[in-house]
Amino acid sequence: TAVLLTISLLQLARGISIVKSGVSNYSFPDDFIFGVGTAAFQIEGGWNEGGKGENMWDTKLHSEPTITVDHSNGDVSADSYHHYMDDIEMIKKLGVQAYRMSISWTRILPNGTDNNINQEGVKYYRTIFEELLKANITPVVTLYHWDMPTPFIALGGWINAKVIDYFEDYARVAFRLYGDLVKMWLTINEPNENCKNTYEYYKLPAAVKLQGVEIYICTHNSLRAHARVYRMYEKEFKPDQQGKVSIVLESAWPEPNDPNKPEDVEASENYLQMQIGMFAHPIFSEEGDYPRVVREKINNMSRLQGFARSRLPYFTDEEVTALRGSADFFALNHYSSMTVSPLKEDYYWKDLSYYNDTGVHIQVDPFWTRSAAFWQYIYPPGFRKLINWLQNNYKILREIPIFITENGYIDLGGTEDYERVDYYNDYLYQLPLAIHEDGCNVKGYFAWSLMDHFEWRDGYTIKFGLYSVDFNSPNRTRTPKLSAYNYANIVRTRRIDF
Ligand code: NOJ
Repeated sequence: TAVLLTISLLQLARGISIVKSGVSNYSFPDDFIFGVGTAAFQIEGGWNEGGKGENMWDTKLHSEPTITVDHSNGDVSADSYHHYMDDIEMIKKLGVQAYRMSISWTRILPNGTDNNINQEGVKYYRTIFEELLKANITPVVTLYHWDMPTPFIALGGWINAKVIDYFEDYARVAFRLYGDLVKMWLTINEPNENCKNTYEYYKLPAAVKLQGVEIYICTHNSLRAHARVYRMYEKEFKPDQQGKVSIVLESAWPEPNDPNKPEDVEASENYLQMQIGMFAHPIFSEEGDYPRVVREKINNMSRLQGFARSRLPYFTDEEVTALRGSADFFALNHYSSMTVSPLKEDYYWKDLSYYNDTGVHIQVDPFWTRSAAFWQYIYPPGFRKLINWLQNNYKILREIPIFITENGYIDLGGTEDYERVDYYNDYLYQLPLAIHEDGCNVKGYFAWSLMDHFEWRDGYTIKFGLYSVDFNSPNRTRTPKLSAYNYANIVRTRRIDF
């Protein structure tokens, strides 16, 4: 009983108050943009068609199929390479104002470099952008959604600064080719997860082991690459094209395990600074550098571990200047929450890992439900708290807006996805609260995902789509789920009935 009582008191202290039925008091503002998202490698297929070159996923999944849990690959996936017109019809039916998608780097530059531009690939995306615009749907385009050209794997991928040059060349080609149609660009998708998965968990196929520095070199180079591309667009394209550029950052919400314990509150702050501040602070704060607490933590840990220099690199003065303010809006992905307290083990510093550097022990609340992914726990108020944390941390967010570029629910499939409907209702409900009650500057939301897709190492075993895809049918038949009708209704009425 004592345990249960403590748990429910904690629960009360966290102030969960989700209205479960009725109509929300608030509508979404008229200028609020609703959208839906995908990424090239997750839906396109056509891996060797139309002149496309190989990327690291193509190559790795062919040579080592066991890295996906179902031994699948992205060769055909949802086959959007052939069914993009169906996709556009589906987007139209949702009634959304915007579509977030990514360009496959090697579809337009088959060997990764700009010495060979593949016209068939160029045409593929141009047609999609034109068709979207004809339907009054704004394309929002990610340049790097984790599909590194295969030739650059041998260079180490993002840990090699040469890749920054190649990325800049690729971005320049994309801006030149599509900048008349695309006005909202995203440089890199979730560099935090990309760096962690590639270099720390060896989940992605470009891993190099370098004494616990690789994740930070990747972090550092991702930030430098972003700033480089932002400044290049600003100088060479913005005067004519008038577009906006940002980077996609991600975090779960770390709820202090006991909100009355200062050390748990501090653990929450540390988690946020390591997970999202690490990327957001250099770009959105006035300092143009990593958060001080992140710098201190990694420097101290490096010292304890016997390194003469910190495992976290330093930016040059020019890089600081380039980074500071290098985003026209904040692009946030969010899916889940966790509870946190300080990591207690006294041997933890020996392990050269990001989580040990963070110094945060992650649990979950026993009352929160979990989705079909081991990592997704449902706590809608965490969404609102995270947005508030950003709004309070970065003054610039009074001037530039926040867009939620991903949010969605994971299940095992089927079109009667009541739990996904609930998830969208409960999470979306947090936005009018954040906007009207807290004064947060949120201007748009993209549901993830338009359709079921290749979920990286989880292959096709878990589903995110508003539309289901029959991966056994030759046409990859697409069927709307209940959540698609529900989302279309929210978009149409600009309010949530639940
Ligand atoms: C974020 C990634 O951008 C996307 O590719 C992935 O499908 C979702 N997270 C869900 O894991």
